[in-house]
Parts: sequence; C-alpha cells; structure tokens
Amino acid sequence: MNQLTRLHPDLERALFAEDMIAGLSKSPKATPPKWFYDAAGSALFGEITRLPEYYPTRTEMALLAARGGDIAAAVGPGRTVVEYGSGSAAKAIALLGALEAPAGYLCVEIDPGAARATAHEVELAFPDLPVRGVAGDFTHLQGEVASGTRPRLGFFPGSTIGNFPPEEAGPLLAAMREHLGPGGQLLLGADLIKDDAVLEAAYDDAAGVTARFNLNLLERANRELGADFDLAGFDHRAIWNVAAARIEMHLVARHAQTVTIDGHRFDFAAGETIHTESSYKFDESRLKSLAYAGGWSIDQVWTAPEQPFALALLTADLR
Ligand code: SAH
Ligand code: AVI
Repeated sequence: MNQLTRLHPDLERALFAEDMIAGLSKSPKATPPKWFYDAAGSALFGEITRLPEYYPTRTEMALLAARGGDIAAAVGPGRTVVEYGSGSAAKAIALLGALEAPAGYLCVEIDPGAARATAHEVELAFPDLPVRGVAGDFTHLQGEVASGTRPRLGFFPGSTIGNFPPEEAGPLLAAMREHLGPGGQLLLGADLIKDDAVLEAAYDDAAGVTARFNLNLLERANRELGADFDLAGFDHRAIWNVAAARIEMHLVARHAQTVTIDGHRFDFAAGETIHTESSYKFDESRLKSLAYAGGWSIDQVWTAPEQPFALALLTADLR
C-alpha cells in the first residue's frame, strides 16, 4: 500500500506568500518557478508535454525506451528509485520496467495531487513494489524522506535541473547525493543547446498553452493569497538568452499598474516584467561542470538523435 505525506497547507500558503512578496520586491522582479505547480499548473504542464513544439518529454521518453537496456546494465540490480519532481508516472514506469529487480519507488513532488497520482499509477503497474509518494519540496530534502532502502538510484528527469541557476543547481545535486546515500547514483535528464527557433517555439507555442501555464502563477496568487492581479494586464514572453544559455519566461505588464498581495503594494511600469522561469540548456562542458559542482562523476551519457537531449548516469564522486 503506498503512503503519502505532505506539507501542511497553511505552511505552504505562508511560503508561497513569502516567495511572491520577496520576488516582486526584487529589481528586476523574479519569482521561483516551483509555485507554477498547483493542480491547475500540473494539468497545464501535462498539456505542454503533448504539444507539437514541446520536444523534451517525447524525446526523453524515446531515449528511455531505446536505451533502457543499457541504462539497466549500467545501474545494476536491486536499487530503490527516488524520483524528484515526477509530474506524471510515465517516465518512472518506463525506467522501472527496464531496470533489473528494482527494490522500491519513492517520489518527491511538490504538487500533492501529482504525487498521489504518480504513486498510485506506479503501484498499479508494479503491484509487488514498495511505493511511497511524498508531497514535498526536493530543495528541502533533509531528514524528511531520508529513511528507506539503499542502494538508491535518483531519477531527476525532464531537465527540471535546468530550472535552477548554476549557483543553485550544484548545491541541489549535492543535496540529492547526500539523500541518495553511499553508493548512490543519479539518472539526470538534461536538455541540450539547440537551434534558437526550436527552443523559442517550445516555450511560446501556437496554441498558447505555455502562456496559460505562465499566467496561472498570477491566477494562483489571486486564488490562494487573495492577490488582485489583472490577468489581462500581463503578456507571456519567452526569450532565448544566448549568453546565459537559458530560455527565460516573463510576464510583461501591458500598462502601468499596481498589485496588492497580503497588504503589500507592487507598482509596475508599462513593459516591466516578472521573470518567472529560466530553463538552462546544456552542452558537454556545462553538463560536466554541473555534475562536478554537485560532487558527482559522469559514468555514462546517452543522447537522443531526434532533438539534442541527454540522460546522464552520475555516480558519487570518489576524487
Ligand atoms: N518529471 C516530469 C515533470 C517535469 S515538470 C517530466 O519530466 O515530464 C517539473 C515537476 O517537478 C512538476 O511536477 C513540479 O510539480 C515538480 N517540482 C517543481 N519544483 C519542485 C520542488 N521544488 N520540489 C518538488 N517538486 C517540484
Ligand atoms: C519542468 N521544466 C523542466 C519545464 C521546462 O521546460 O523548463 C517547465 C516548462 N516551462 C515552460 N514549459 C515547460
């Protein structure tokens, strides 16, 4: 039977309010992307993964299917899989199906509905496997979910690591190394630098789903924090910042306006933006620096032929 543990909703609301107020007090304004994922945001992300322009999900799924045997051989038998930011169960089911005699599955996912659904689907697919879902923040792993069987294989797919700037990504991978314990491995999905037009279309699709995903942050603040964002007052914008090797998502104020959250007033000039997400893209040297910054060594890298995307198997660094 799978178990689900979760943060107290009052605490989550307080943390959301704190991050929004801190983010909108910055200059330039910037908010953390983890707050995209309430139930509505997770559903919109699910829609994004099925868009023709959004290549990462289908590319990584195809890579898991094509190289599952090689991944299993490199990982070895008897590992407990710990997935960070699962979203849906599809990739976990593909990985667990390829591995030799996995010992268990745990997901750490900030959206409680997604954590519950993933754990349930994995349990249905593998009825004899011990399964646990944790509705929690993988940037705060200490203690919370440290119990459980070892050795562990961390699974951090989707290039979610790219949503962290390098100065946070290294420490996050180091915290995962601690969490996975001695002999831990990490299978990391990382999207690679490619043609600008392909990148920009993936984050600004013709059907406007990514725009709705971006604007859902403001809708969520209105719903949960009683903020008074005028949704028609902001436009979605996605730009490829070549110097930083990242796609940036912004919400651009269409005209001068003032927004209030929990008694805090925020003034926007016309054209001023909230930087809501970065999605860093990698090449071989950036991937190496990232792994080393987290104290990992790269054991193997599998790359997709259709669109450049990598799955890297990292092992705890013994240097
Ligand atoms: N792994 C899936 C989903 C990627 S979307 C895929 O590859 O398609 C990112 C997922 O990570 C979402 O489900 C989101 O809710 C979750 N997430 C984002 N930040 C998180 C955090 N700090 N802690 C836990 N989960 C997080
Ligand atoms: C979850 N993460 C890796 C996605 C990405 O591609 O950066 C989130 C996303 N943002 C817009 N579209 C998808």
